[in-house]
Amino acid sequence: MAHRVTVIPGDGIGPEVTAAARLALDATDAGIEWIEAAAGAGALDTHGALLPEETLDSIRQTRAAIKGPITTPVGTGFRSGNVALRQELDLFAAVRPARTLPGVPVRHRGVDLVVIRENTEDLYRGIEFERGTREAGALRAKLRDLAGFEVREDAGITVKPISVAGTRRIVYFAFDYAQWNHRRTVTVGHKANIMRYSDGLFLETAAEEAANHYGAEYREMHIDHLSMRLAREPQAFDVLLLPNLYGDILSDLCAGLVGGLGLVPGANIGWEYAVFEPVHGSAPDIAGKGLANPTAMILSGAMLLRHLGEQRAARAVEEAVDAVLAAGRVRTPDLGGDSTTAQVGEAVAAEVRRLPRG
Ligand code: NAI
Ligand code: MG
Repeated sequence: MAHRVTVIPGDGIGPEVTAAARLALDATDAGIEWIEAAAGAGALDTHGALLPEETLDSIRQTRAAIKGPITTPVGTGFRSGNVALRQELDLFAAVRPARTLPGVPVRHRGVDLVVIRENTEDLYRGIEFERGTREAGALRAKLRDLAGFEVREDAGITVKPISVAGTRRIVYFAFDYAQWNHRRTVTVGHKANIMRYSDGLFLETAAEEAANHYGAEYREMHIDHLSMRLAREPQAFDVLLLPNLYGDILSDLCAGLVGGLGLVPGANIGWEYAVFEPVHGSAPDIAGKGLANPTAMILSGAMLLRHLGEQRAARAVEEAVDAVLAAGRVRTPDLGGDSTTAQVGEAVAAEVRRLPRG
């Protein structure tokens, strides 16, 4: 086998969409040996941890993984398994391409966007103080001492750190990505007028770092204005470079622009490791019924293939997805069809096998 890849089926619809993606990828000649590993609510039952150490070890060995969505138990005190995975492996860049796909009913045609999201800092860093705790009280007192900030006694607090080092590498990554993928512009979304020392620093550092890169044009836009412009005229944008929280939100917005969460793939990338996963979550409302659209997971698989240097196989999977969507016979209910998750996986795999090789 040419490549060893860790596969994490995950929770909810995760195992269903993962099985479909494996069908499609195994139909290529990339030769992937799958190493199964657990994460998520299921792993909490079987391994006693949302993100078992052996899963991290597996990815450290294979260096590349494909992952289904995992459920974050709410109010149990557990740190999100996704946040932990991104932090433990320092997967600082999320890449989420949203493009118009053939045969999918949408409001805007010709959309071809890539969200590049900083993945490790910002309000998602996990620095939080629960309302009414001794720590929250101490922090309130400290804030009062330091600068006279009065925070209400019944407030919960989440801290937003954004660093020069953290920003520099994501800006470098975005321009590098733009260059290799022939992208024309990189637009930074921010709210530097309000959050001067976090978003302000992101913006200042981005502008400085961008000056070292040629190729793509650098632009800046307030995140609220950017949201409005995306809703009206998404074709005007190319690469969107965003701090963590805005990146999370606009990723789903961009998914909506091209037909929904079932269609948009993603990658979490660091200097050493890469974990590919769709933008969507575990969708407990439709889990276990064969209703989930596996396209996002299959296209995440195509991104994995490209990362492994299997350009031809990656293109084959993308062309097969396009062909199945364009034909319109096999599609899941989110796209108005009545096919199952597995049927879409089989149809894409069959199309991959039909495409000429070499
Ligand atoms: P979600 O993305 O799971 O679902 C939102 C809506 O989109 C639901 O109506 C769902 O049925 C639909 N949907 C999602 N994926 C679909 C697909 N492939 N085909 C057809 N319909 C699809 O978001 P939600 O409900 O906010 O989160 C559910 C759980 O997933 C939570 O525990 C959350 O923490 C987790 N989550 C995990 C992620 C990951 O592992 N990367 C990412 C986002 C959420
Ligand atoms: Mg999200």
